[in-house]
Amino acid sequence: MPSTRRHLLKVGLAAAVTPYLANSASAPVKMITLSPSPVDLEMPVEGFVDEITPVENFFVRCHTMTPKVDAATWQLEITGLVNTPLKLSLADLKKLPKVELIGVLECAGNGRSFYKPGMPGAQWRFGSVGNAKWTGVRLRDVLAKAGVKPGAAHLLLDGADSPMGKMPDFQRSLPLEKANHEDTLLAYEMNGKPLTPEHGFPLRVIAPGWAGDSWIKWLTKIELLDKEHDGFWMKTAYRHPAKHIEPGAAVTPADLIPVTDINVKSVIATPGPWAKPGAIVVQGVAWSNSSLVTKVDISADGGKTWNAAKLLGNATKYGFRRFTWQWKASEGTHTLMARATNAAGQTQPMEPEWNPSGYLYNAAQAREVVVAKVQSPVATKAELTAPAAPDVYKQACLSCHDDHMMKQQHLTRAQWDREVTKMTGWGAQVKDDQRSALLDFLTARFGL
Ligand code: HEC
Repeated sequence: MPSTRRHLLKVGLAAAVTPYLANSASAPVKMITLSPSPVDLEMPVEGFVDEITPVENFFVRCHTMTPKVDAATWQLEITGLVNTPLKLSLADLKKLPKVELIGVLECAGNGRSFYKPGMPGAQWRFGSVGNAKWTGVRLRDVLAKAGVKPGAAHLLLDGADSPMGKMPDFQRSLPLEKANHEDTLLAYEMNGKPLTPEHGFPLRVIAPGWAGDSWIKWLTKIELLDKEHDGFWMKTAYRHPAKHIEPGAAVTPADLIPVTDINVKSVIATPGPWAKPGAIVVQGVAWSNSSLVTKVDISADGGKTWNAAKLLGNATKYGFRRFTWQWKASEGTHTLMARATNAAGQTQPMEPEWNPSGYLYNAAQAREVVVAKVQSPVATKAELTAPAAPDVYKQACLSCHDDHMMKQQHLTRAQWDREVTKMTGWGAQVKDDQRSALLDFLTARFGL
């Protein structure tokens, strides 16, 4: 929705940080906070032991502050190229046939921090992905109520969130074909409970097999368009090259296409970085797009030899598949790897497919495990001695969000320069004569 008020006040940290998580199915994990506000939380690798991710362990990605929505007055508006424009309440929606679907939601930027060279954006490691049971209605049933007119080809989706400063409103469009797919839902429940505010209360889009950027939260409006929406979040963000490019190479915007399908992928949850010699259970989860995971291979020697892991439970079309493998580990430092394959024959590559915004990372995970009778202390890297921050940093950069946004980055001066231009465009106040000192500081403190 358009900006009605400016979010230039920093929101208190305490309210936004998720504490130690309780009530999850397995042992709770402490979420990694990438940014407390807007809130971006990631699940650490230890969490990849559940088939269904508890809500408390489910990653959160917000482009803006979480909006407060009153379910009693909330409405979903269906407009544009339809025969009968509609305004539906939650009760109206719930009159439509109820559908349940188990599906993986993965952020398009999951794994971004592993790309070399790096790029700005939330520096996700493995955990901006989760698998939930979603309950709601089919999007196509809602569209049928309004009657889609000939010529309609895309749905513009908008949520109750307001942009911060002059940032473009977070709106995305979905092709009509995907919207009409029987598995595309509008969900009001996650794991059997109403959506939480961070996960899009009261209604979000479920676009199984596709990355999270299409799973619009806090949905308030669907507008039928005759073409793809031409806003920032469709035409600039969430695009990647259709073909292979060399890491770091420039790509012309004309060669970029919207992010849709996620990739086949797997994550090892246990063992951790240290284990005792002997029998060790290697376990984790694998997932894919709309093609089933058919096998997971594990290597304990950095990819030289591979062993088939055992797949547990039943396959669900879009869900997590758990796997285990028994490892007889000898003392020493070993590199454990997992590599999943799907029914379409897609396998995780050994090297990532670099792209300028760092989307859809799925290279096989390599995890160093020290196998020893006793755990030796892990050497901690000395903290960088930070140069003093110039006043402009505090005034211009810490007004909307705090320094979690900067701390995640590892950018060159040229990349910081472009980032400052983006932020000044959104409302950061940086005078020309302050820019150079600001860039010196950002590069020295949050550089490569
Ligand atoms: C008007 C509000 C506002 C100001 C002022 C602001 N930012 Fe941001 N910034 C944002 C928002 C909102 C996001 C999150 C965007 C998202 O998640 O897509 C963000 C994200 C970022 C990111 C993550 C990468 C990205 O592009 O999403 C970095 C780095 C960043 N800001 C740096 C800065 C620096 C440096 C300054 C000072 C020059 C600054 N910001 C000032 C609103 C602001």
